[in-house]
Amino acid sequence: MRHTVLVTGAAAGIGAGIADRFAETGFAVAVFDIDAAGAERKAEELRRNAPALSIAGDVGREEDAKRAVEATVAEFGRLDVLVNNAGIEVAGSVKDLTTADWDRQMNVNLRGVFLMCRSAIPHLCRQGGSIVNIASVHAFLSWPDSAAYDAAKSGLIGLTRAMALDHGGDGIRVNAICPGYIQTPLMDRWLDSLPDREEALRQVRSFHPVGRIGTPRDIAEAAFFLASEGASFISGTTLVIDGAMTVAGR
Ligand SMILES: NC(=O)c1ccc[n+]([C@@H]2O[C@H](COP(=O)([O-])OP(=O)(O)OC[C@H]3O[C@@H](n4cnc5c(N)ncnc54)[C@H](O)[C@@H]3O)[C@@H](O)[C@H]2O)c1
Repeated sequence: MRHTVLVTGAAAGIGAGIADRFAETGFAVAVFDIDAAGAERKAEELRRNAPALSIAGDVGREEDAKRAVEATVAEFGRLDVLVNNAGIEVAGSVKDLTTADWDRQMNVNLRGVFLMCRSAIPHLCRQGGSIVNIASVHAFLSWPDSAAYDAAKSGLIGLTRAMALDHGGDGIRVNAICPGYIQTPLMDRWLDSLPDREEALRQVRSFHPVGRIGTPRDIAEAAFFLASEGASFISGTTLVIDGAMTVAGR
């Protein structure tokens, strides 16, 4: 039976890159996204390489998270890897954020991961599976107006550690990846919101000692490795993938 991965937020950006990487290696892939049409488009594309299923729903809704895991297991018979990638960025300082803004940020980026993991863990136990959480360099450093996002991503590192400890005995490994700037629709939306897109892009590029912004593939390669047998002694860790941006002091 084929190994199976469930990727949240896989219709676009980093999640889509992760789905591609696993499908190329023959994994069956469940594409779970709030964008139903985007999820089906992505699944259709993946079917050229491997079996793929699209599931529409919100990671922050308990019933949707549960349904996503159940549909994956019903379709493919097993679950080996869960990649918690879905995320949004709600901008604002604590002074400016409304309670609804705060809740929206936490609901997707933190509660969503909790809900997905709680549903997936009983299935992952059977295979000695793996969870990969997509956090951010925002877990370690801050930019202006990122209070809720920074809090959610920092919390995700804590959740990763706690799950690695609690479920290591069940054979489940749990790790986090902290991307720097990655070229995705999320980054495009942010650039479009700025007065001078080209100048901002030039500045962002200059933050990276390696001389470029990251791609979804850069993150996908690491996610695939962390989920693989080659990483069987790696759990509870956080991998920063940012072209040396943070060590350069950005
Ligand atoms: N792009 C970056 O520079 C960057 C850097 C660090 C971390 N990240 C993190 O990587 C992850 C992916 O980011 P991206 O840049 O690919 O974003 P993106 O906006 O380009 O794509 C995110 C995908 O998640 C889906 N999604 C959003 N909310 C959802 C929900 N509630 N339930 C299910 N699906 C949902 C969207 O429909 C979309 O398909 C996020 O967790 C983000 O915080 C991104």
